[in-house]
Amino acid sequence: MRHDLFSTRDVGSGGSLLLPHLSRLSLPEKTVQIWVLDDTCIEPACSALANTLSLDERQRARAYRQERHRNRFIARRSILRWLIGGYLSCKPESLRFSVTQFGRPVLQAPGAERLAFSVSHTDGMALLAFAWDCRVGVDVERRSDGLDIAGIGRGIFSAFEEETLDAARPDSAESLLSIWTRKEALLKALGTGLSGEPNAYTTEDDSLLGEGYWCASHNGTAISGWTCLDLVLGPQVRGALAVSLEDARVTLQLCPVSNWVNTWRDGSAALTRS
Ligand SMILES: CC(C)(COP(=O)(O)OP(=O)(O)OC[C@H]1O[C@@H](n2cnc3c(N)ncnc32)[C@H](O)[C@@H]1OP(=O)(O)O)[C@@H](O)C(=O)NCCC(=O)NCCS
Repeated sequence: MRHDLFSTRDVGSGGSLLLPHLSRLSLPEKTVQIWVLDDTCIEPACSALANTLSLDERQRARAYRQERHRNRFIARRSILRWLIGGYLSCKPESLRFSVTQFGRPVLQAPGAERLAFSVSHTDGMALLAFAWDCRVGVDVERRSDGLDIAGIGRGIFSAFEEETLDAARPDSAESLLSIWTRKEALLKALGTGLSGEPNAYTTEDDSLLGEGYWCASHNGTAISGWTCLDLVLGPQVRGALAVSLEDARVTLQLCPVSNWVNTWRDGSAALTRS
């Protein structure tokens, strides 16, 4: 794909820009908004928003060897900026991020600490999750068969999770995907990622709340007051959300550009599923 990587473009609301208007973005309390970006977002986001990236983000973009990965990063990060700009009522290009020792991006702005966000991407899809006054983690993975399950989970899965996987053999790909996305969502919400002691945490189906819900514990102690959900995002793609809010409302906002046009130009609410 050709695009003018970092030229200045008009990122106002008119003309050909196919993005939700900043002033229309709102995030209700006790709600997690998850934006689902597919690859149709990449070109328009790169064209319209690459100039909102900071110098270090541009350097990071340039470090990607493959154009496909570079463009995905630019789109993901610039749309992240756009949405945060809307939620915090500030210019996307004015946002500054620092990075924790574990790699988690953190917003540097007065009042910005109220806004929790999490990013995940896999081949062809990215998720951006936002909520106020909580910890939030999201993960998405594309299914790939023939993985060395024992190798992948070593040091990451708890004994209970390994038993769950063993019980699912030989068709354990779905189970692996589920455990993996749940664990990454939880550890991203906690901010450590896979550093620390991932196998001290256990994720499992929530038998009380039923299908689609899961719960977590740390060394046998339940982590309570959280909402933990599986996200079914396509036949080969699974995701998970963990948020430190009880009974959170969760919305999925789809972001193919054509939907943005339909959705935002006629002033109706964004496409919302479940
Ligand atoms: C966080 C982690 C689980 C992400 O796994 P992944 O499947 O490779 O990648 P995903 O697409 O799901 O997530 C990537 C996003 O997670 C976020 N992220 C990275 N580290 C994070 C952390 N510790 N906590 C929360 N979020 C984190 C970033 O926003 C990143 O998005 P970006 O690439 O657009 O900046 C993994 O990178 C990890 O364990 N990191 C910790 C290891 C560490 O300590 N690294 C130090 C680096 S300075």
